[in-house]
Amino acid sequence: MAPGSMTTRRKTARSSGGGGPSIGLDIGTANIVAYRNGQSEKGTQMEANAFFTVPSMPNTRKILEDKAVRFFEKDERLHILGNAAEEFANILGGTTRRPMEDGLVNLKEDDGIQVIQAILDPMVPEPAQKGQPLWFSVPGDPLDRNGAVLFNESIFKTYLKGRGYTPRPINEAMAVVVSELSDQHATGIGISMGGGMCNICFSYLSIPAVTYSIQKGGDFIDQTVGRSVGEPATKIKAIKEQELDLSVAPRNNIEHGLHAAYDDLFASLAESLARVLRGSDNVPRLNQALPIVLSGGTVLPPGSRERFAACLGEVDLPVRVAKVVQARNPLYATAKGAYMMAVAEDES
Ligand SMILES: Nc1ncnc2c1ncn2[C@@H]1O[C@H](COP(=O)(O)OP(=O)(O)OP(=O)(O)O)[C@@H](O)[C@H]1O
Ligand SMILES: [Mg+2]
Repeated sequence: MAPGSMTTRRKTARSSGGGGPSIGLDIGTANIVAYRNGQSEKGTQMEANAFFTVPSMPNTRKILEDKAVRFFEKDERLHILGNAAEEFANILGGTTRRPMEDGLVNLKEDDGIQVIQAILDPMVPEPAQKGQPLWFSVPGDPLDRNGAVLFNESIFKTYLKGRGYTPRPINEAMAVVVSELSDQHATGIGISMGGGMCNICFSYLSIPAVTYSIQKGGDFIDQTVGRSVGEPATKIKAIKEQELDLSVAPRNNIEHGLHAAYDDLFASLAESLARVLRGSDNVPRLNQALPIVLSGGTVLPPGSRERFAACLGEVDLPVRVAKVVQARNPLYATAKGAYMMAVAEDES
């Protein structure tokens, strides 16, 4: 054997407790991200957490297979999965369905769990060595709904164990702190504003002292604006993602609605942060001012950071804020934090 290949083998064997390369997983209401390879993000995959159902005609299955579209068949219907589901919905003019709602698995959706597992299967290949740790994000308890997240966590733990991994949950907003505030000794407040919820974590030296969530996010914005202007939420979502700029004045009713919905979300978040931190016995008494890092797809429009910082200025926080920053890649930060935990475990 050439010396080079021995080195490679030894390195591979070291990674992730003797298994294959580390993976950090973020299972969100809107997107599932599997993060690999910290430097280039090249191996990272993101799939819409959605499906689109079509009747199973004699030819359809074969055509989808030939075109490498991912689906599974049930009761003479084909569920097209992930990003392909959104493409089909756009072309055929329907809407996708979601296995998750407000940050949690939607138990009213009969095939939901099967759909998520089918999306996850190719993103999380069975490990080279059984028992390899896999870090995945879990939401914090929604305010006033203690325990709501436990069932969710157990669904994914069972799935990952079945795949041959040792599942390791990490709070979604804590993962953002790990990813973005490593140069601050993982001390600060991480906020992930996603599709179904906003997750918040106050971390002191990498210890999640306070975590919670509110069940409002990008979907809430799409739905409330859609209702008030009489347009489908999918249309509002597309305009929001492609055109919205919160740093300039709105130009039409939809933009007025989007600005108002963002202000409502940011104000709810800032108020909840003040209320939860004031009411918690776990907030460390610190002299230093803390950074706040914003992440998740909902913070992508220009001007989000400044608008949220302005809302924070309106509330009475029990800690001083040094700065509000945006994550380097808001759609990947949670999965990257989970990945970094896997690498840290591997090196310890
Ligand atoms: N460019 C953009 N501008 C505004 N919003 C965006 C943009 N891109 C994505 N979004 C919104 O971000 C949300 C998805 O973000 P993300 O992937 O962080 O959520 P998630 O992790 O799947 O959900 P959650 O954490 O709530 O379970 C959606 O509401 C989507 O419309
Ligand atoms: Mg998320």
